[in-house]
Amino acid sequence: MKEVMAELEAVYGEDDTVTYQSLRDIVKTERAVKETLRLHPPLFMLLRAVMQDFEYKGYHVPAGSRVVVTPYVAHRMRSQFRDPERFDPDRFSPEREEDKIPFAFIPFGGGRHKCMGSAFAYLQVKAIIAVLLRAYEFELSGDPIASDFHGLVVGPKQPCRIRYRRRRSKAVHAVPGTLERAGTNGRPVARMKITVDTDLCQGHAVCTSEAPTVFEVGPDERVRVLDASPAESLHERVRLARKHCPTGAITLVEG
Ligand code: HEM
Ligand code: SF4
Repeated sequence: MKEVMAELEAVYGEDDTVTYQSLRDIVKTERAVKETLRLHPPLFMLLRAVMQDFEYKGYHVPAGSRVVVTPYVAHRMRSQFRDPERFDPDRFSPEREEDKIPFAFIPFGGGRHKCMGSAFAYLQVKAIIAVLLRAYEFELSGDPIASDFHGLVVGPKQPCRIRYRRRRSKAVHAVPGTLERAGTNGRPVARMKITVDTDLCQGHAVCTSEAPTVFEVGPDERVRVLDASPAESLHERVRLARKHCPTGAITLVEG
């Protein structure tokens, strides 16, 4: 929490303007949001109707049955997440990137029908947090929060009481050196190879706004790579495109 507050103060200072760039810069806040979504995915069951028979890992799945994937269980698998019961936002840091393991971190689903609004949802939640946490102090005033699984969307079990109090001053002590800019790791890299999974691409064009000379979205709303081995001066922009691609469609090989 301290680190999130320090980051918010470092990015916003006395200026409360929430911009697209400022929301990208609050990377620690984003990791805390991701970790909350990992431990408490609002959609805890994803359902599919099986249209035709298929085999999966030795199981026969007949047409007409239902297949359920649960993010709540997937997010607690030890094979995918280190110490999965622990609230540990650093698991999403550039050194660990546990959110990049294919189909492990799935609060927004995965594959072709992955949530269309995931990029927007992150921006929205981060904007709300950036405003609320700087204006108010929150504390739990009762039992620890438990999940209520009765509805379609999981929420906190009632009563869920918190106490909040307006902060005297928005100024919070910034911890020097804790602000991390998105996507920078300072590692000099000479070569980069880009591949994209056009099956996963949903045509959000985040990649083209980051690196317009490298990516293009065609009339079919699928990405095309214009330059699969871009010059080193573009590497940082391509890393940002990969990082912010909401569907994880971009893969990079560096070195
Ligand atoms: C924290 C907020 C959100 C969460 C946790 C979430 C979660 C999900 C999940 C898990 C799916 C996949 C369902 C499945 O596979 O059966 C999904 C699909 C979808 N979501 Fe979201 N969502 C969020 C916000 C949004 C927002 C803000 C929008 C729109 C602006 C949105 C639009 C959609 C759409 C259109 C689909 C269907 C995609 C398809 O079937 O191809 N979602 N969402
Ligand atoms: S590759 Fe990712 S960011 Fe680019 S258009 Fe496709 S989904 Fe969007």
